[in-house]
Amino acid sequence: SDSLRALADDYNLKIGSAIIPFDLDNPAYAKVAGEQFSSVTPGNEMKWETVEPTRGTYDWSKADRLVSFAEAHGQQVRGHVLLWHNQLPGWLTSGVADGSITKAQLRDLLQKHITDEVAHFKGKIWQWDVANEFFADSWSPQPLANGMNGDDFWVKNLGTGIVADAFRWAHAADPKALLFYNDYNITGADGTNAKFQAAYDFVKSLKEQGVPIDGVGEQGHLDTQYGFPTKMQQDLQAFADLGLRVAITEADVRTFVEQTDDKQTPTDQLAMSAQPFYYDQMLKACLAVRSCISFTVWGFGEADSWVPGWFTGEGYAGIYNTDVQPKTAYYTLQQDLQLA
Ligand code: G3I
Repeated sequence: SDSLRALADDYNLKIGSAIIPFDLDNPAYAKVAGEQFSSVTPGNEMKWETVEPTRGTYDWSKADRLVSFAEAHGQQVRGHVLLWHNQLPGWLTSGVADGSITKAQLRDLLQKHITDEVAHFKGKIWQWDVANEFFADSWSPQPLANGMNGDDFWVKNLGTGIVADAFRWAHAADPKALLFYNDYNITGADGTNAKFQAAYDFVKSLKEQGVPIDGVGEQGHLDTQYGFPTKMQQDLQAFADLGLRVAITEADVRTFVEQTDDKQTPTDQLAMSAQPFYYDQMLKACLAVRSCISFTVWGFGEADSWVPGWFTGEGYAGIYNTDVQPKTAYYTLQQDLQLA
C-alpha cells in the first residue's frame, strides 16, 4: 500500500492526524482517517473543558469514541492535553477569579483532573501531551528569567514547579505512557532561537531532577509568510541528545487565501508552492532524527481547520482540501516516505 501509514511503517514512524470525532460520521472523512494514519489525536475532546464541563461530572464520551476508532483501526493515540492555560472549564476559571477556589484547592483539583483522566485512558494512550505552551514568545509581556510566560494561568497561580508535578502525577496514573512537553516555535527558529533555548534548558533540568518526562513535541504550526524555520532538524536532534523522544505533533502550514464558497485558494503562486514545501521540510527534519517517533498533522482536511478562525484571511493549511481530496502537500509527504 502507498498510504502514508504503510510507507512510514518502514521507518518505525507513526503518521498521525488530529481528528474531530464528530467528523467520523462523514464516511469519506472516516475512510481517510482510518487508512492513511497510524496515530490519532483528539483536537479538543480530551481537554479539561470537554471532559469535566460541570464540576465533578466527567464526560469521556467524545474522547472514548476516538479511542475506539483507533483500536478498530490499529492506531496509536496521542493524548492531548493535561496541563494548559486554554480551554479550561468555566467553573474552574471563574472560581479562581472570584476566590471561591483557593490556590491549594486549585492544586488539588488539578492533581485529581490529571490522575482521573490518565487513569480513565490507562493502557490506551501512547503519548500524553502533559504540559503545553509554557514558554514566552518574543511578544509576551511577562517573560520570567527562565523564559516561561509569567502571565500563564498555571504559573501565576501555582508557580513554575507545577509542570514537574503534572509529569509526576501523570506517570503515577499510567507508568507506561510516554509523557511529552509540547509547544510551538521551540524548534527551528532563526535569530536568537530564545524559545528553543528556554525549553531546552527546562526539559534538561527536568531530566536531571528525575522528573518522568519522555519526550518533546514541536507543534509545527507554520505560516509561509515567515520563512521555513531552518534549525528544526538541529533542534530536534538537541532534544534527542538529552535522551528524549521527539515528535512533530500539530503540523499545519497556512497561507493567505481567497475564500470562495467552501474553497480556500492561496492568493499568490509562490505560497501555493511554499505550503507543500514546508510540510516536506518538516517531515524530512523528523526523518533525519532517529528519535523522532511520530509526525502528526493538525487535522488533515480543511473543512474545520482552526486557522481561518484565528488568522484573518489565512487558510489552506492542511494536506487534504475541504472536499477531503488530497492536495500537493499530501503527495509531497508520500514521496518523502517513498524516497527516504
Ligand atoms: O464548542 C464551542 C461551540 O459550542 C460554539 O458554538 C463554537 C462557536 O465558536 O465554539 C466551540 O468551541 C470552539 C472549540 O475549538 C471547539 O470546536 C472554540 O470556539 C475554538 O476556539 C476552539 O478552537 C480550538 C483551539 O485549540 C482553542 O484553544 C481548536 O479547535 C483546536 O484545534 C486548537 O488546538 C490547539 C492545540 O490544542 C494546542 N496547540 C495550538 C492548537 C491550535 O490553536
